[in-house]
Amino acid sequence: MSATEAEMSQLPRQDQAPFLKLSGITKRWGALTALEDIDLEIHRGEVLGLLGDNGAGKTTMVNLISGVFAPSSGTMECCGAPVKISSPDRAHSLGIETVFQDLALLPNLAVADNLFIGRERTFDIVPKLIRVLKRREMERDAAETLKQLDIHIPSLRVNVNALSGGQRQAIAIARAIRWKANMVILDEPTAALSVPEQNKVLALTRQLASQGVAVLYITHNMGDVMQVTDRIAVLYRGRKAAEMRTSETSQKDIVHVIMSGER
Ligand SMILES: Nc1ncnc2c1ncn2[C@@H]1O[C@H](COP(=O)(O)OP(=O)(O)OP(=O)(O)O)[C@@H](O)[C@H]1O
Ligand SMILES: [Mg+2]
Repeated sequence: MSATEAEMSQLPRQDQAPFLKLSGITKRWGALTALEDIDLEIHRGEVLGLLGDNGAGKTTMVNLISGVFAPSSGTMECCGAPVKISSPDRAHSLGIETVFQDLALLPNLAVADNLFIGRERTFDIVPKLIRVLKRREMERDAAETLKQLDIHIPSLRVNVNALSGGQRQAIAIARAIRWKANMVILDEPTAALSVPEQNKVLALTRQLASQGVAVLYITHNMGDVMQVTDRIAVLYRGRKAAEMRTSETSQKDIVHVIMSGER
């Protein structure tokens, strides 16, 4: 059982409960209110788009859910049980993986090593004294993961800084899939990508959802919104202005809410 599974098995099982439920979440920076009284549910197996103009509070929300900052007030529940996501480690232990815009990959490490950051496989040559990486085993596992996801990388030994933006994004998502994340947050994942790379990321995003992962997808790209999300929530100046099913709305209506805060 992984650390995440062990942690999750201690939470009461309420299969009907959303993976994550935010109630009355507020974040203030001195006099500035970045988020105010946000209620939001994110379910397993869905892609929830989080939209809003510049400064609306999207990244602040990502930071609260991934344990970077604490909310000023409000509560969160994970699978029906109250939680405080007080640190990034705590977020990981709940199976929440964030693919930040800068990806948090280590550019001077090889692709295979990046898939295993923080979870390196080792064995002791001399117990408690000399520990070595099981590099071949990690490479085999990395190759298998990338093959399953149809991600093509020239070599697993190449450093990440030699890859394109789309390849890096794909590896970051592959890492979330490999470690069986319960929830994945993607902050503007296609912003810097070519069209084929964007399509790959959109396909991987749907694959995450079809494996039962709860996905929070932040973007300014309306094409992405219509193609990949099941539902959307729109933030307007720190408040939730609307929440709707993508299939029941239009691009025009969504843009209207983003710009005016009104439905
Ligand atoms: N660390 C911080 N200290 C002070 N104010 C902050 C901090 N982080 C964010 N803010 C403020 O909170 C508000 C929301 O910012 P946030 O980064 O969440 O917006 P956003 O919706 O992600 O915008 P963008 O689309 O431009 O990325 C802004 O007014 C911003 O200046
Ligand atoms: Mg932002």
